[in-house]
Amino acid sequence: MKNRHGVTYLKPVLFLAIVSLLIVACTTPKGNPAEGQRWFMMNNCFACHGLNGDNGKGPVIRGIGISFRSFISTVRNANSPIMPKFPESKITDQEVADIYAWLQEK
Ligand code: HEC
Repeated sequence: MKNRHGVTYLKPVLFLAIVSLLIVACTTPKGNPAEGQRWFMMNNCFACHGLNGDNGKGPVIRGIGISFRSFISTVRNANSPIMPKFPESKITDQEVADIYAWLQEK
């Protein structure tokens, strides 16, 4: 009986683990680096961060080491007098993910 209890206890834990993995997978869109450069140009990121994100007046963001969550929250709501806010009506989550993926490329 001890064994069976162990198994029934594990089931909800496994279930929660799988559900959390799915939630993480769904809320972090997979970026397409080939598209990223296009959105980077179209949204004028390049005007401040440089053509490749590494040679503008703004900070270097090529190869940026922050998580996607921090990245997208900066894009949506940069706490900055200089960097504009980019709401979803201007740039979708998928497009931000593409830019992020592109910036991670060497
Ligand atoms: C008008 C200039 C300007 C534009 C346009 C701009 N940024 Fe920025 N960005 C900045 C500045 C300046 C900072 C640094 C924050 C500060 O100094 O206030 C910054 C910071 C950032 C950071 C945080 C860097 C770090 O080290 O934490 C990210 C990420 C970023 N920008 C991405 C983007 C993306 C992606 C776009 C286009 C969708 C964009 N920026 C458009 C000026 C700009």
